[in-house]
Amino acid sequence: MIPTRMARFHSLEVATVHQETPDAIVVGFRIPAALHAEFAFTHGQYVTLKLTVNGEELRRSYSICSSPLDKDELRIAVKRVDKGRASSQLVEKLKQGMTLEVMTPMGNFTTALDATQERHFVAFAAGSGITPILSILKTVLRTEPKSRFTLFYGNTDTDRIIFREKLEELKVQHGQRLSVHHILTRGKDEDALFNGRITTDKAKQLLGRFVTDALHKEFFICGPEQMMVNVSEALEAMGVDKKHLHIELFTSPVTAEAKKEVDHSHGSTAKFTGTASVKIILDGREHELQIPAKGDAVLDAAIDSGLDVPYACKGAVCCTCKARVLEGKVEMAMNYALTDEEVADGYVLTCQTHPRSARVVIDYDQH
Ligand SMILES: Cc1cc2nc3c(=O)[nH]c(=O)nc-3n(C[C@H](O)[C@H](O)[C@H](O)COP(=O)(O)OP(=O)(O)OC[C@H]3O[C@@H](n4cnc5c(N)ncnc54)[C@H](O)[C@@H]3O)c2cc1C
Ligand code: FES
Repeated sequence: MIPTRMARFHSLEVATVHQETPDAIVVGFRIPAALHAEFAFTHGQYVTLKLTVNGEELRRSYSICSSPLDKDELRIAVKRVDKGRASSQLVEKLKQGMTLEVMTPMGNFTTALDATQERHFVAFAAGSGITPILSILKTVLRTEPKSRFTLFYGNTDTDRIIFREKLEELKVQHGQRLSVHHILTRGKDEDALFNGRITTDKAKQLLGRFVTDALHKEFFICGPEQMMVNVSEALEAMGVDKKHLHIELFTSPVTAEAKKEVDHSHGSTAKFTGTASVKIILDGREHELQIPAKGDAVLDAAIDSGLDVPYACKGAVCCTCKARVLEGKVEMAMNYALTDEEVADGYVLTCQTHPRSARVVIDYDQH
């Protein structure tokens, strides 16, 4: 079950900083007893950090790599992105004992688990995309004793493999229930299948060789955009139902292939072009805003009015700005984060939402 609660930042002390690879760190937070319920999370979720970098406030999301079964542990992994403002500051400067502003956990990159099930979970990860997958993998193997997990994990070379040792340990612990296949761009394996990028063809070959049983399957993909597009294509060609395919994006897609993968619209065909009266419900209080249909998104209008509404990416890939439309019509420009069910239930990404009727009511408290 995904916990529902108001998205809020809390100051958390950094309990541990571990240099995992030359460009990635694993950060553990100390969660005071009074905040345990606020920071309860589900395998696959993320937290958002609020940082000041060169005087500028930045919000960045990082997936949780620990399992909710590891009591009182909340760890994330941050990989430095070339010229990345937040990730460079974190990887270079973060030390044990420092304090960070951390938002309560969120995200849909997960699936319900059931100890009676016997299933095959299959994940494709690359680079920092391993972070949520590790949480899912550890939780699945401990919660569903009859299920198995296969991980295809792409990296440039062995030194850059985040959680290499942890995965080895888990293989020893879980035996044949866990298979891990490393695919290295600069690899020199005798078997060419394990060298190079994960193309559509390579994904098909990997699946054809290692995922051949008749068990029910859930697929998870997280990594660079092109890899996700390639693997999705391979799975679609195999006839995998979208319901069992879980995708987590770390950045807004730039390729047409990725864009066509997702549902952009909230279903409104209304032609309203005036200025809407928008009631925002936030933290139990009601605020009336005037938002032109062709103007800023609801989130930006709310921030400009001084409301402390939750957000992170502003690019439709996390779901930090999620809220529910209680009345009126709206349209989302993009959506890479909400499920079809959530959209059908009236949820929107407010960073992408524009009014399409004269009266709209949006509730952030039903996150
Ligand atoms: C739901 C979610 C979960 C995430 N989980 C993780 C995680 O577990 N670990 C992690 O390290 N990151 C994760 N990210 C990405 C993270 O939030 C930041 O985007 C990343 O750290 C880069 O921020 P920055 O400020 O350093 O880079 P910026 O200063 O924002 O960007 C610098 C340049 O790098 C490009 N860029 C930004 N992000 C990436 C990227 N991921 N890969 C390649 N190029 C990029 C930008 O387009 C820009 O050109 C996640 C993002 C989302 C939305
Ligand atoms: S702030 Fe990330 S989807 Fe809106």
